[in-house]
Amino acid sequence: MAEPDLAESHLLGWLSTVGLDAHYVRAEGDYLYRLDERGREIPVVDFAGGYGSLMFGHNHPEIVALAQQMLTAQAPVHAQFSRHPYATELAARLTAVVQRETGEDGTYNAVFANSGAEAVEIAVKHAELDRALKVAELQTEIAEHLESVRAAVTEGTAAVPDEVARVAGLGTGEAGPVAIDRLIAHIDEVNAARAGAEPLLFALEGGFHGKLMGSVQLTHNAAYRTPFAALGTSARFVTREEIPALPKIFEEERVDLLDLAVSGNEVAVVHRRLPLLCAFVLEPIQGEGGIRLLDSESAATIQSACAEADVPIVVDEVQSGMGRTGTFLASTGIGLRGDYYALAKSLGGGIAKAAVMLARSSRYRPQFELVHSSTFAKDYFSTTIGLKVLDLLEADDGAAYRKAAERGAHLLDMLRSVQRDFPDVVRDVRGRGLMAGLEFHDQSGSEVEGLRQHAEGATLGYALAGKLLRSHRVRTFPTASSPNTLRFEPSIHIGDKEVAQLEAGLREVCALLRAQDGPGLLEI
Ligand code: F0G
Repeated sequence: MAEPDLAESHLLGWLSTVGLDAHYVRAEGDYLYRLDERGREIPVVDFAGGYGSLMFGHNHPEIVALAQQMLTAQAPVHAQFSRHPYATELAARLTAVVQRETGEDGTYNAVFANSGAEAVEIAVKHAELDRALKVAELQTEIAEHLESVRAAVTEGTAAVPDEVARVAGLGTGEAGPVAIDRLIAHIDEVNAARAGAEPLLFALEGGFHGKLMGSVQLTHNAAYRTPFAALGTSARFVTREEIPALPKIFEEERVDLLDLAVSGNEVAVVHRRLPLLCAFVLEPIQGEGGIRLLDSESAATIQSACAEADVPIVVDEVQSGMGRTGTFLASTGIGLRGDYYALAKSLGGGIAKAAVMLARSSRYRPQFELVHSSTFAKDYFSTTIGLKVLDLLEADDGAAYRKAAERGAHLLDMLRSVQRDFPDVVRDVRGRGLMAGLEFHDQSGSEVEGLRQHAEGATLGYALAGKLLRSHRVRTFPTASSPNTLRFEPSIHIGDKEVAQLEAGLREVCALLRAQDGPGLLEI
C-alpha cells in the first residue's frame, strides 16, 4: 500500500485529471525536464516561468554560482537584529532605480519580506500605522485648538454666536463660558465617535494581491476571498468604469472631525477631514486577473483622486515588476507613482525567496520597524541574490529591459498572428513585454460535453494547458481569475525556437477548438 500523500494530494489529484501532474527533475533556462519511462530527460519549454519569477530563467549560472559561493564561504544567512550592509545596499539601489524611472528624487525606505503577499501586507500595515498616527496627531491638534478657544471665550476676547451654539444644541442667548464648555463637550463626543471609524481600503476589481489573511481581503476573486472575509477589513472594489468617479466615491466616504477657531471675535466650527482612507492597492498590469493593463488615463485619474483625498497608493509590482514589462516597474509605463511598491518573484533570482516593500520616505514611520518583523526576511542569502539580480537587470545600461521588450514584442506578435487566424476561437491577446496573455472565447455553449463542463467549471484553461504539455511539451497555465486566459511569462532568454514551439501548440489547440474536437483536446 503506497504511503498517503500528505502534501496537498487533493490538488495533485485534480491536476492529474487535466494531465498537469508532471514531475520535473531538473530546470535550466526556459526549460524544465521530466523523465520518460526509460529515465531519459524530456525537455519542456516553461512559459509559466514560476508565475513571473524567472526573469533570468531557471538556475541562471551566475546566480547559482553566487549561491554556491555564499554557502561554501559559510555566509551568515541568519543574523537577525544585526547590521545588514547587503540589505542597506539593496535598499539604496532599489531607490536609485525607482528614482531613475519615475524621475522623482524622493527616496524609498525598504522593509524586506519573503513573499509577494507579505510585501503587500507590509505596505497596508504601514499605511494603517501612518493613518492611525495621523488621526492621533489631528486629535491632538484639535484638542489644543479647543482649549485655546475656550480660553479666548473665558477671557471675553471671543464669543459663541447663536448659530454655533445651536451646533451643540444650545438655546439662543446662552453665550459665555457655559456655552463654550457645552460646545466643546459636544465636539469631543462627536469626534470620539467618528475617529474610531474602521479604515477603508480600496482595490481594483479583478486585482490579485495574495492569499494570506490580510492580502486575500484585497484579492477580488470571491472564491479566494469570501471564505475568509470575516477575518479582515474588507476592501471597496472599484470597477474600471468607476475610476472617473473616484473623487466622488472618496467624497462620499468623507468623515470630518469638528474643530474650533476664532474668526474676528467669534467662535467658528471648522471641519477637518478624518484620515479614514487607508490605501488604494492596485497592479499596473493585473496578472492573475487575466493580464489586464491599466491605461495611463485611468492611472492619472487614480493618482489625482488619491492625492486630493490623501489616500496612499500601493502599487503591487509583484508580478509586473523587476523588468518583466521592459521597464523595472510596469507602472513607469503608465505614469503611475506609488507611495508604496511591492516587489517579489524575480527579486529572488529564481532560487531565493525574496520580497520587499518600498515606502516613500516622506511617509515613512520609523517606528514601524519596531512592530513588524520576519525571521527569514532581509537575510544575507536572499538580499545578496537580490543585488545580483539588479546587477543583471541594470548591466549594459539596462540591456535586460530592452531584451524583455524585444522578446515580449516577438511573443505578442506571434500570439496576435494566432488570433488573426482564429478569431472565432481567440477572444483577445493582451500584455506588455514578457507578461502576455491569450484569452479564448467562452466554450460554455459548446455541444461537446467535456468542453462545456470545463467552461462551466472555469477549468478550460487548465485543460488546454494540459493539451499543450502533452502534445507540444509546453508548460503554461491560465490566469486563475480569468480562466480562459493562458499566461506567458518566460525569461528574457526565450528563443524564437521556443516561441515557435508554443505557436505550433496554440495553433493545434485552436484548430481542435474550431473543430470542437473534444477527444483531440481532452483525451489524456
Ligand atoms: N501580488 C501579485 C500582483 C501577484 O501576482 C501575486 C502572486 C501576489 C501578490 C502574491 O505573491 O504568491 O509570493 O505571495 N501571483 C501568482 C499568480 C500567485 O497566480 O499570478 P506570493
